[in-house]
Amino acid sequence: MENNTRGTWGTRIGFIAAAAGSAVGLGNIWKFPYITGMYGGAAFVIVYLLFVVLVCIPVMSSELLIGRLTSKNPVGAFKELAPKSSWWLVGAMGILAGFIILSFYSVIGGWAISYIFKSGAYMASGGENAANVFVGFITSPVAPLVWHAIFMAICIGIVMAGVEKGIEKYSKILMPALIVLMLILIIRSVTLPGSTAGLSFYLNPDFSKLSAEGILAALGQAFFSLSLGMGCMITYGSYLKKDSNIPTDSYWISGADTVIALLAGLMIFPAVFAFGLEPGAGPGLTFITVPAVFASMGAIGHFFGILFFTLLTFAAVTSAISLLEVVCAYFIDEAKWSRKKATVTMGIIIFLIGVPCSLGQGVWSHIKIIGGRDILDSLDFVASNIFLPLGGFLMLIFIGWFWGTDKAIKAGNEGAAKGGITLGSGYAFLVKYVAPIALIIVFIMKVMEF
Ligand code: TRP
Repeated sequence: MENNTRGTWGTRIGFIAAAAGSAVGLGNIWKFPYITGMYGGAAFVIVYLLFVVLVCIPVMSSELLIGRLTSKNPVGAFKELAPKSSWWLVGAMGILAGFIILSFYSVIGGWAISYIFKSGAYMASGGENAANVFVGFITSPVAPLVWHAIFMAICIGIVMAGVEKGIEKYSKILMPALIVLMLILIIRSVTLPGSTAGLSFYLNPDFSKLSAEGILAALGQAFFSLSLGMGCMITYGSYLKKDSNIPTDSYWISGADTVIALLAGLMIFPAVFAFGLEPGAGPGLTFITVPAVFASMGAIGHFFGILFFTLLTFAAVTSAISLLEVVCAYFIDEAKWSRKKATVTMGIIIFLIGVPCSLGQGVWSHIKIIGGRDILDSLDFVASNIFLPLGGFLMLIFIGWFWGTDKAIKAGNEGAAKGGITLGSGYAFLVKYVAPIALIIVFIMKVMEF
């Protein structure tokens, strides 16, 4: 794909696989379990699910329909729908969020790749040492940076070739493989002695554990996991053909993403309790718990370990390229850069922003920015919990109160007549009232807590 000729997705299932590939990633398997663990378990999960249904699915349809209608990157899309206004700033904020997210995402992606080769270390240690292996690795100054660079290089290579080639093909095979492997690990996890406490932590809600901070985190996580609020789905929608069924596809993508996140929790929490680990341990949770599960499996654990981290890497790459694609699509469309120049330049800048995130785990771990968070967590907090929900909120206000839900419904339903779900008064009601009011309440609650 050269310069300004825009490709389109090959098939409907290919688009769903690519969009679900964007959504399903480290957010589901790494972040969802550890955030759920930090904010108390089942009650957090319920709030998360409410946000997915009431806020995120409408936002997903909205982003896709704006993208398909305009065939533009987020900034270009808002400029086209609302010329001579400042709405394009919403798209610009999204692109900034993409920058920030990808910088730390690539660091964690690097961890995932490196773990493909670590089965020797964590298996030999019999599992107890899984935590030491992890901490030893992320606190070292150089190795994580090398993996971060490799991860970023892979993303640059793919985005340079054009997102719509390749990704479709691999997503269709590897996503189901990931699900099957997770099911095997869930069975192992729930049959470990002492795992039932984990199940009850994950499935029995205790609402007294829920804080305003936790509710905001659930909101941020829902946006993050579904790749919303920064124009990622606007960009992916811009490669959609006119006969694609946006309302139904939104459900499929959101459903697949949510199921995989829920499965990840089922895989992690029983094992966390079985091994006497701390559910609120933070970003290391998955990287410590899952290897401990493999170590408990005997020799076959090596095989599953290598397979799991390979699939996790793949899931992370399909998400990361969607982030890089958004940033690059902007420079290609608006600044008329070549695809190559955009991907290489932006890839390198994003890599550099990731460097302090990685060093913040070890040599710079004394640097705390927001509320005691290290550099990586602080960037994540600002991007996920503030920029993404704010971007989603402004987009809903734009559609609901400026551009008009009638136009959105008309644009979104094109191609949807072949049966299935269509956008209608329910969508309009969510977009105009329910979702924005919910977001305002969450923000106010969070601010009042300070
Ligand atoms: N959703 C991805 C994950 O869960 C991450 C991601 C990809 C993302 N594109 C995004 C997050 C756009 C926010 C916005 O791992």
